[in-house]
Amino acid sequence: MAYPFQITSLNQYHIDYKKSIEQPEEFWATIADTFYWRKKWDNVLEWNFNEPKIEWFKGAKLNITENCIDRHLEKLGNKPAIIWEPNNPEEKVRVVTYNRLHKRVCQVAQMLKNNGVKKGDRVCIYMGMIPELTYAILGCARIGAIHSVIFGGFSAQSIADRLEDANAEFIITCDGAYRGAKDIPLKAVIDDALIGNKTVKKVIVYNRTRTPVSMVKGRDIWWEDEMEFAEHQIENEGNVHFEAEEMDAEDPLFILYTSGSTGKPKGVVHTCAGYMVWTTYTFVNVFQYNPGDIHFCTADIGWITGHSYIVYGPLSAGATSVMFEGIPTFPTAGRFWDIVDKHKVNILYTAPTAIRSLMSFGTEPIHNKNLSSLKILGTVGEPINEEAWHWYNENIGLQKCPIVDTWWQTETGGCLISNLAGITPSKPSWATLPLPGVQPVLVDETGNEITEKDETGLIKGNLCIKAPWPGILRTTWSDHERCRVNYFATYPSLYFTGDGALKDGDGNYRITGRVDDVLNISGHRIGTAEVENAINMHSGVVESAVVGYPHNIKGQGIYAFVIYNGTDGDENLRKQDISATVSKIIGAIAKPDKIQFVTGLPKTRSGKIMRRILRKIAEGETSNLGDTTTLLDPGVVDEIVQSKL
Ligand code: PRX
Repeated sequence: MAYPFQITSLNQYHIDYKKSIEQPEEFWATIADTFYWRKKWDNVLEWNFNEPKIEWFKGAKLNITENCIDRHLEKLGNKPAIIWEPNNPEEKVRVVTYNRLHKRVCQVAQMLKNNGVKKGDRVCIYMGMIPELTYAILGCARIGAIHSVIFGGFSAQSIADRLEDANAEFIITCDGAYRGAKDIPLKAVIDDALIGNKTVKKVIVYNRTRTPVSMVKGRDIWWEDEMEFAEHQIENEGNVHFEAEEMDAEDPLFILYTSGSTGKPKGVVHTCAGYMVWTTYTFVNVFQYNPGDIHFCTADIGWITGHSYIVYGPLSAGATSVMFEGIPTFPTAGRFWDIVDKHKVNILYTAPTAIRSLMSFGTEPIHNKNLSSLKILGTVGEPINEEAWHWYNENIGLQKCPIVDTWWQTETGGCLISNLAGITPSKPSWATLPLPGVQPVLVDETGNEITEKDETGLIKGNLCIKAPWPGILRTTWSDHERCRVNYFATYPSLYFTGDGALKDGDGNYRITGRVDDVLNISGHRIGTAEVENAINMHSGVVESAVVGYPHNIKGQGIYAFVIYNGTDGDENLRKQDISATVSKIIGAIAKPDKIQFVTGLPKTRSGKIMRRILRKIAEGETSNLGDTTTLLDPGVVDEIVQSKL
């Protein structure tokens, strides 16, 4: 047993699970004891879901970077913390040891301090997948600033909205980012986002692509210059490092924006202690990490998966984490397998959409790749179809690697339902059992627990969780009421996930997908309302309705029904204009896959769009569209079906 809290048998899983439910405070105190605290907690847990108020390890003092870095230095100082694989395989790999990580993170903290960043300030990070992104995140954490990483695919408008919501005063970015054959001009996007912005004081720019950028005097500064200065300063002051800020257990660690069914994205807030304990505990147990293993999570750090399973979980466990700058298909569709072979990866954690996309290239890209180092495979982000599961198992895992299907969310901080690799059984396309501390419950529309099995022997309902685990979100930034309404008000005293699920007789869960108006496009969450708002910004659009439809690679695609004013111009051009508008407002990730022009939308007499019908049409259904009698104008449905793409 490499970690004191590592579950090493099925029997132990059952024992630990039981204890975690019956005596949660004792259970989590024992686990938390294995971390480094400046001061231990007064209380393990205080909570009620009605406000909601959730406090873990209250009164404890810590800094998460002392757990992710400093505590490992003595034994693991020269061990790789990060192995960085560049976009271009010809470029040199960078291996960042724990010692080096410590040095760089201290420099970033000093650099931030020099530029006026204080504990509690919000720092927006918009960078490519380079080691400096990890330094930036941990540098913020070391000084107690709240980081908010924004995925590189979001547009200037999206960034502007997030900057405003977070009231961010600082930005860390790059001149550009490499992604496959593309060179993405990040700083130029930031410049656009800052037009009209009144709060941002400093923009720190790391030079990655040597793309020419504008540098505004007094506001924009170069990372390299500032870091060099900070380095000398730490040395000249005779310090061995930058002393980490002492944080309260419940001080915010970061904000990460995510889409919901209504309005603009919300800033999910995670706090220091609970998030640290949860990501470390789940990392070690789900992936059965053993010291020395090479862990490769292919996610982008712009999303929660990268936060929890590239940065915080692995580093807190003293692991070696592979960070990949590029994309799975560049320069060839064998890139992931090259990386596994080159770095002797033991654990590979990726998304079903990536697996499906690589499947479409056949097995040729795998030939001559040595995948024998792999011990464990994982998936995350969306339901995995059985075909992809088996392909992954047979061709990548060579039928010897357990596959963990990890279900979780931005709001949950880390995995909630997943098998534990090689310890608890796997079941293709099922996330299986809850982790210790997690109490799932399936409810009907009114919030009553469903215990009756349907004709297939399964229980089907909306997935809620009964009690808090350490990694649960605490609030949504600047609007606690929004957090309550979104997650804790649908069903009294329950956290509502927004997902539907099935449960079998053995207690396994299978997530069937969102039951709200949230789409899951290639494992990324996008609200239909958000896409509609963006489409409606196009000057020719009168109204639109967006639904998801099954997509071979992405899992779900975006289907937009659009009422357009007038018949001007070429239809194709109009579609491109609408897509370009969505790209500008949200980002390329939200561009509709299909746009159908219609003259009307199916609405009830009270004006509500009947998405159920549109969803069926988008799925290719032409008859069985359900009850259309309550529609204001049932004729509209026939017309939409007739003109379907
Ligand atoms: O619908 C579920 C789906 O992804 C949603 C959460 O998205 P996000 O906050 O972006 O986090 C993704 C990475 C954790 C969930 O509500 N989802 C995530 N993992 C799975 C999944 N659906 C099925 N199976 C999974 N393993």
